[in-house]
Amino acid sequence: MAAHGEPMPMVSRRGTGLKGRAEVPGDKSVSHRALILGALAVGETRVTGLLEGQDVLDTAAAMRAFGAQVERTGEGAWSIHGVGTGGFAEPEDVIDCGNSGTGVRLIMGAAATSPITATFTGDASLRSRPMGRVTDPLALFGAAAVGREGGRLPLTLIGARDPQPVRYTVPVPSAQVKSAVLLAGLGAPGQTQVIEREATRDHTERMLAGFGAEITVEEGPEGRVITLTGQPELRPQSIAVPRDPSSAAFPVCAALIAEGSDVLVPGIGLNPTRAGLYETLREMGADLTYENPRDEGGEPVADLRARFSGAMRGIEVPPERAASMIDEYPVLSVVAACAEGPTVMRGVGELRVKESDRIDAMAQGLRACGVEVEEGEDWWIVHGLGAGGVPGGARVESRLDHRIAMAFLVLGLASQRAVTVDDGQPIATSFPIFEPLMTGLGAAIARSNG
Ligand code: S3P
Repeated sequence: MAAHGEPMPMVSRRGTGLKGRAEVPGDKSVSHRALILGALAVGETRVTGLLEGQDVLDTAAAMRAFGAQVERTGEGAWSIHGVGTGGFAEPEDVIDCGNSGTGVRLIMGAAATSPITATFTGDASLRSRPMGRVTDPLALFGAAAVGREGGRLPLTLIGARDPQPVRYTVPVPSAQVKSAVLLAGLGAPGQTQVIEREATRDHTERMLAGFGAEITVEEGPEGRVITLTGQPELRPQSIAVPRDPSSAAFPVCAALIAEGSDVLVPGIGLNPTRAGLYETLREMGADLTYENPRDEGGEPVADLRARFSGAMRGIEVPPERAASMIDEYPVLSVVAACAEGPTVMRGVGELRVKESDRIDAMAQGLRACGVEVEEGEDWWIVHGLGAGGVPGGARVESRLDHRIAMAFLVLGLASQRAVTVDDGQPIATSFPIFEPLMTGLGAAIARSNG
């Protein structure tokens, strides 16, 4: 269930910089997958470092509704007794995925090849997002879906009684679509193949292999070809969730633009399918170093050290990097506003169908803060004003989008006048400790009276 309370305005302003150590929570993408695959394994999966944000809690509740036993055993520690592939029970009530596109799309995939019917809904943001991109390939397995106009939620999915394996080329760069097809493929006999032209985050593939599924990935002329053998018996796992590079982006970017800052963000997963922001920041001239690089659970991990960087320059972000930093464009645009000259971001049409239309949300808010932004359907350009150059002084809308709220609160830490966000509640979906973590570093972020 999404946070439905009264809007919670928040405000941020310049201070003397951020200092210290920022322990960000577990990775959201990995947390969803750990719960879902745990629910599809036979026996007990144990997870540590799970992100206890609302999105992931909604997925935990959904797994219970499909018959898995899901229990919290300590802080970030969870135990899941799975029902086995094809073992999902029919939920008694509507599945509410709150704000989470990842949750609803992956769960629809996992349910599509079981002979059950389930109805899904979410908050106003999720109900406005396209689901046809998932229900179209699920129909190839034999599942049927009836939703609102444009395939939007609420939507009822009737799982295939006699599922067929599929070969599917994902038409948009989307790890959610790829993952939904793979999870559906678990319930179909024979080999399901998913082809993606551009590599997107590969947590599902890695985790399926960890749970003992037969899965191969080959680079071919068409792109990445992923082949999964269906109806495996998934073996329960112990999963240590790495810290989320998408959440780390907020304290890191705040430190880069707030004068006087020096912040260490330890233990961040730097899987190449997720680390595009950090490469981009370094190309812009950020004082950002990777300390103590190591391998944890098969993933590259490092401690990120970010220091105030007063001389960053705008760059042209390579479009082929977009998938590896798709969630980071809002906060990148904030850094871009504080760099010298234009930052050009192309090949990012997917930003328009996230929790909000993120190009529009950021463009409007940045303009209100005195920054010039140009935009087209799948591109935008932020004209940076250099360190200390952003006027700020505006009240901006977060549009039920956690990353928009956090991005503007970061901007306020470096702009001349305070920035107010109309509602900080969505932050709880992915980064419930954002406010205490940032204020603990010395950031002037507070609840506001409006
Ligand atoms: C995610 C995939 C991305 C990303 C989202 C998490 C995932 O969405 O934006 O926050 O965990 O698979 P798309 O699949 O829509 O690109």
